[in-house]
Parts: sequence; structure tokens; C-alpha cells
Amino acid sequence: MKEIRSGIGIGIFERNLTEMNVLGIESSCDETAAAVVMDGRRILSSVVASQIAVHHLYGGVVPELASRKHIEAISPVVEQALTQAKMGIHDIDGIAVTQGPGLVGCLLVGFCFAKAFAFARGLPWVGVDHLAAHLHSVLLTDHPPRFPFVALLASGGHTGLYYLEALDTYTLLGQTRDDAAGEAYDKVAKMLGLGYPGGAVIDRLAGQGDAQAISFTRPYLDKMQFDFSFSGLKTAVYRHIRKDPQSAAQRPADIAAGFQEAVVDVLVHKLLHAATVKQCPRVALVGGVAANRRLRERLSAEAAATDLQVYIAPMDLCGDNAAMVAGLGFHHLKARRTTALDADVYSRSKSNPGLK
Ligand code: KG4
Ligand code: ZN
Repeated sequence: MKEIRSGIGIGIFERNLTEMNVLGIESSCDETAAAVVMDGRRILSSVVASQIAVHHLYGGVVPELASRKHIEAISPVVEQALTQAKMGIHDIDGIAVTQGPGLVGCLLVGFCFAKAFAFARGLPWVGVDHLAAHLHSVLLTDHPPRFPFVALLASGGHTGLYYLEALDTYTLLGQTRDDAAGEAYDKVAKMLGLGYPGGAVIDRLAGQGDAQAISFTRPYLDKMQFDFSFSGLKTAVYRHIRKDPQSAAQRPADIAAGFQEAVVDVLVHKLLHAATVKQCPRVALVGGVAANRRLRERLSAEAAATDLQVYIAPMDLCGDNAAMVAGLGFHHLKARRTTALDADVYSRSKSNPGLK
């Protein structure tokens, strides 16, 4: 066997890399997740331990508590992922872990666990970018989009539009200048007393409301550009509630529906406009907010009216998960890209979260 050295100390032994079982680990925010993915495509297991119950009490993620919960959860979650995949640690050929962006204390738990696992077992390991992993989620389906495609990544921490030409070639077309779409959902939910996280709750509540009852101004910024801004919309909802708290309390569903329609209008418009500008026939939707029913429905309907093909991440791959981390990590490892043992996590997003 030929040993190729990469980074410090970890040798990758030549093996049949197309039959590689990659253990993925994700701990960037408030979900501890582990998954086993074979060949970078077949999800053998995907376990997500959510901390919602802990943070719900505080109306948002408390970083210190989140880190502690990750420490408690990481071993059982990895064990469960191995058990569900019907595997032992000896069956794992490589490890992929989220390196950033995210909460540093949280990232460190998964990152150090992965390092220790890889070092103890002499396995190749790689730190992957959380946003690149979200973008990769739509490729883990039975009918993935062909390159190139335009993708909207909308989550709690990020909202951006990307042009993906190949696995390792991404261009960031635009991103939010302030709040991410999911963050706006969470903050509006808090204003309405709906608790944390707010996206799924507003999604449900909006279904019972009249989206035309309150028309919030759409925050397009420049309709021809790809940047987003959701902070003004959030403030508009706040002002609306303050102006007439009684009717807001009586009809929260109308506020939820009006707010949601404004967000969806902007997201769908910018995604379709980006596809037109890039003359690209394929669009994709990923990230926690991609789970939104109205957004999925509107994007599919509007794209159907054109010749665009729409690819939306499956529900279980929209929110944070480790299958997307393992799926992307496989391609790094296949290309012999590994991470050094003295590498650190990073908190802020990179302008290009691709493989390079
Ligand atoms: O991707 P994700 O799990 O974590 C980050 O990387 O941020 O996204 C979480 C975000 C939260 O803000 C949550 O409120 C939002 O996704 N979200 C939704 C829905 N489900 C989750 N937003 C709108 N509609 C939903 N159904
Ligand atoms: Zn995420």
C-alpha cells in the first residue's frame, strides 16, 4: 500500500476511494448531527439531535449552553449514526466535519471529536465549509441538478445566491447585508410570542392567515441586483404590532402570512432573476428556510411557468444535518484534500465556500 502524506501526521492509504464510508459530523449551531454516507451519494444514516428544547426557553440560541449540549450529545449521536448504518468504527474510511462558519464553541466540539477520531483510527479527515455543505445537499438526491445551476441558500445564519459551475467552482452572486431570511423569521416569531425557532411555526400559522390583509413593503433593494436585506421588513412588522397590539394579538396569522409573502416574493424573484442573468436553466433551493412550504410551492409554480428546472433539497436535508457534510467531504477526500491536525475552526463565512 502506498501512503500519501497530507497535512501533519495523517496518512491516507490507497484504497478503493469510490467505496468510501465517510462519517460526517456537524455541530455549528444548535444541532448535533452525525451521518454515514457511502460513495458520497448513499446516505446510510443521518442522526440529528436538536437542542430546541434548551434554547426555546431563552428565545434564541445561547452559545455557551449550545456548546455544553454538543459535548453531551456528540458521542451518543455518532454511535447512533454508526448503529443505524449497521457499522462499527472499523468500517469508516474517512471523516468530514464542519469547520465553519458557526459558533466557535459549538464548532470546536465536533471539530475536536473528528480530529481525535481520525487520529486514533489513522483515518483521513477533512474540515468542510457549512455553506458549501448546504449547497451540496441538493446533490444528494436521486435526481440531482447538472452543473451549472443557480442556488439560493437561505438559512438562519446566511442568505445568499450562488452560481455553481462545478463541485469546486462557485461564485457568490449576492448575499444579505443584514439579517438572514431565517433570522428574520425567528425574530418575527419572537415578536408574535411564538417562541424559537420561528420559521416552521410562522410557516404553519401563515397557512391560516390572509396574506393580502397586511401588505408589507418588499425589501428588494435593487430589483436587478442579488443582495438581500430583511432587517427593514422585520422592523416594519415590529412597528405594525406596536401600532395596534390588540389586533395583532387577535390576528397573528395575518401578520405571519403578510410577512411570509413579502420574504417569499423577494427570494423567488431574486433566484429567478439570477437564473435569467446567468442564462441558466436550473435553479436550486437549500438551507433551513428551504423547508418553507410557501417558498417551495411558489418557486415550483413560477418556474413551471417558464422552462426552468427546479431542484429543492429534501426536507430532511434542509436544516442542519451531517449527511451533507459527509457527502461533500467525500469529494475532498477523493481529491486527497485533508485537514491538518493543528487546523482551527472559523466563525465567519468565506466569500467562496467551494472546495478550493
Ligand atoms: O440551515 P439551518 O438549520 O441552520 C443554519 O445554518 O442557520 O436553518 C435554520 C433556520 C432557522 O432560522 C429556522 O427558523 C428556519 O431555518 N426555518 C424555516 C422553516 N424551517 C426552519 N424558515 C421558514 N419556514 C420553515 N418551514
Ligand atoms: Zn445550516
